[in-house]
Amino acid sequence: MNTMSLLRLLVLVAASSSLAAAGDEKPPCPGAPSMTVEAVCRNASGTQAMYDVCKDALGGGAVPDPLSDHDVTVYALAAERGALASVGATLGTAVDLVLHNSSLSGDEKDAYTQCAEAYATAERAMGSVVGKLDVCRLDGLADDYLNGLLDIESCRDRVLKLPASPLYAMVLVDRNKAALAFLLGKLLGI
Ligand SMILES: *[C@@H]1O[C@H](CO)[C@@H](O)[C@H](O)[C@H]1NC(C)=O
Ligand SMILES: *[C@@H]1O[C@H](CO)[C@@H](O)[C@H](O)[C@H]1NC(C)=O
Repeated sequence: MNTMSLLRLLVLVAASSSLAAAGDEKPPCPGAPSMTVEAVCRNASGTQAMYDVCKDALGGGAVPDPLSDHDVTVYALAAERGALASVGATLGTAVDLVLHNSSLSGDEKDAYTQCAEAYATAERAMGSVVGKLDVCRLDGLADDYLNGLLDIESCRDRVLKLPASPLYAMVLVDRNKAALAFLLGKLLGI
C-alpha cells in the first residue's frame, strides 16, 4: 500500500472519532409522535430479530427513563448515534488490520481499504442524519439514511467475497443498527 492511501486511511480515522462524539439534551420536535421504548420498538420492527436490535439499541441507558413517553426523534437520534459509534469502531478495525496485520492477503487488504472508504462515506451520511435530527430538520433525511446503509452494504458485499473475515460479523451488526435507526426515522413520516 502506498503512502497516499495510508495517509487517507489515517485521516478517515481521525474524522471518525470527532463525528462519533455524542451530545445529549435536545428539545422535542414539533409534531413528532411520543411513546415508550416498548411501543416504538413494536412499531418500528417488523420482525422479532429487529425488535431485539431495537431493545438493545434503546435499552441500557441510551435513552433516559425508557418506561415513559419520549418524542420519537429522541429514539431515532439515540439509535443513529449508536449505529455511528459501531460504524466508527468497525472503521477503526478495518484500518488497523490494513496498517498492522502483515499476514493479510492482497485481496483482504484491498477489501478492507475499500471498506474503510465506504465507511468514511457512511459516517458522513450518518453524521448528517444526527445533525438534522438534532435540529428537527427532516428534508433529505431518508436519502441520508439510505446512503449510509448502502455504503455499509457495499462493504458487507465486499467482505462476503473473502474466504473468512473477522470484519464480517461487525459489518452485519453495523448494518442491523443502521437499518433499525432508519426504521425509527421512518416513524417521523420521512
Ligand atoms: C404505534 O403503534 C400503535 C399501536 O399499534 C398505534 O396506535 C400508533 O399509531 C403507532 N404509532 C406510530 C407513530 O406508528
Ligand atoms: C491477521 O490476518 C489474518 C489473515 O486474514 C487473520 O487470520 C488474523 O486473524 C488477523 N489477525 C488479527 C489479530 O486480526
